[in-house]
Amino acid sequence: MHYVTKKMTFCASHRLHNPKLSDSVNREIFEVCNNPNGHGHTYTLEITVRGRVNPETGMVINVRELKRIINREIFEQVDHKNLNVDVPWLEDRLPTTENLCVAFWQRLEKNIPYGELFSIKLSESPNSIFEYLGHIGDRHHCERNRSQ
Ligand code: NI
Repeated sequence: MHYVTKKMTFCASHRLHNPKLSDSVNREIFEVCNNPNGHGHTYTLEITVRGRVNPETGMVINVRELKRIINREIFEQVDHKNLNVDVPWLEDRLPTTENLCVAFWQRLEKNIPYGELFSIKLSESPNSIFEYLGHIGDRHHCERNRSQ
């Protein structure tokens, strides 16, 4: 099995604030990311597709094609945007790195023409990396844990 990863960066702003919680609890949970007027991050995004090599092309997926798909589905939608208000498909989601991974997965999964989406890694800073393996369903995982 082969794993092909495309990496890119984008810039965006956000504010982490859950309106169901009090202002003071929000400040306690989200700290500087709760700043009332938002703040920016330079995000690093890594998309990994896995699959077998097509003998005709010698590739799992053409990385230029993968880049075009990621640009269309993710980059052009979020780069230099305010993630709280500018992106319709992020509405009603707290724009944490974890939640962004899930939203990105949902947009990309059905658009990968060869191989299958394997993982999405996203970071706001070089020292914290968030990885989502969407094909390992959360529900399935919980059910398996319960039966153990
Ligand atoms: Ni932040």
